[in-house]
Amino acid sequence: VSVVGFIGGTGPQGRGLGLRFAVAGHEVLLGSRDAAKAEEAVTGLRPQAPDAVLEGVSNEDACARADLVVVTVPYAAQAPTLRGLADAIGGKIVVNCVNNLAFDEQGPHAVAVPDGSAAQECARLLPDARVVSAFSNVSARKLLAVPEPVEVDVLICGDDDDAKTQVAELAAAVPGMRGVDAGPLRLAGAVEDLTAVLLSLNRRYKIHAGIRIDGLER
Ligand SMILES: NC(=O)c1ccc[n+]([C@@H]2O[C@H](COP(=O)([O-])OP(=O)(O)OC[C@H]3O[C@@H](n4cnc5c(N)ncnc54)[C@H](OP(=O)(O)O)[C@@H]3O)[C@@H](O)[C@H]2O)c1
Repeated sequence: VSVVGFIGGTGPQGRGLGLRFAVAGHEVLLGSRDAAKAEEAVTGLRPQAPDAVLEGVSNEDACARADLVVVTVPYAAQAPTLRGLADAIGGKIVVNCVNNLAFDEQGPHAVAVPDGSAAQECARLLPDARVVSAFSNVSARKLLAVPEPVEVDVLICGDDDDAKTQVAELAAAVPGMRGVDAGPLRLAGAVEDLTAVLLSLNRRYKIHAGIRIDGLER
């Protein structure tokens, strides 16, 4: 992967992943509904990545120019946003990081998605794209804390083995991070829902919890 584009790249998750991929040597396009807002986000990241190829653009340009597109919008924004970008995305690899979470007096909880998961909804909305679920468990706080390593395993779900391999390589370029093939896209819902558990752990123990799978070769 050489050019990574983000839809909704101005939030913590898009900025965090974009920063890490840019530091790893990829060209990164942070997309926004407002290109000026994306340029501001890049200006804010610049001190942490002075030599990186990082640009703030519109969501449309991020999709059109990227080799691989990452979706980092809130769940409620996903369907309306992707409908307008399907042509620009075409048959590219799309990495979905979206979680449908809510918070009440008991803390964070997952909200059921009719398609089974946000990633499966994304795949339905982008039938030509090669959709993979990944990074939905990875804390933006950890991602933004360059140069600290991100000591987590990224659970990757998808139905396209080559796309999963490329996303695993993207993850492995971040210090400390490892990408693991967690199965088909239909399992993405379990991974997304796990984020509510991680957020609950964060609240209880004042940490930024991440996943590590034991038994795998380092
Ligand atoms: N934050 C985390 O630690 C974390 C970790 C794992 C996964 N995630 C998931 O990653 C996704 C992004 O998280 P985030 O915390 O970065 O979210 P966020 O800050 O709430 O939103 C990200 C960006 O989405 C765009 N956006 C917001 N509302 C929109 C709308 N109605 N229509 C179109 N675009 C809209 C905005 O960009 P513009 O205004 O520039 O267009 C915004 O900066 C979420 O689905 C979240 O569940 C987050």
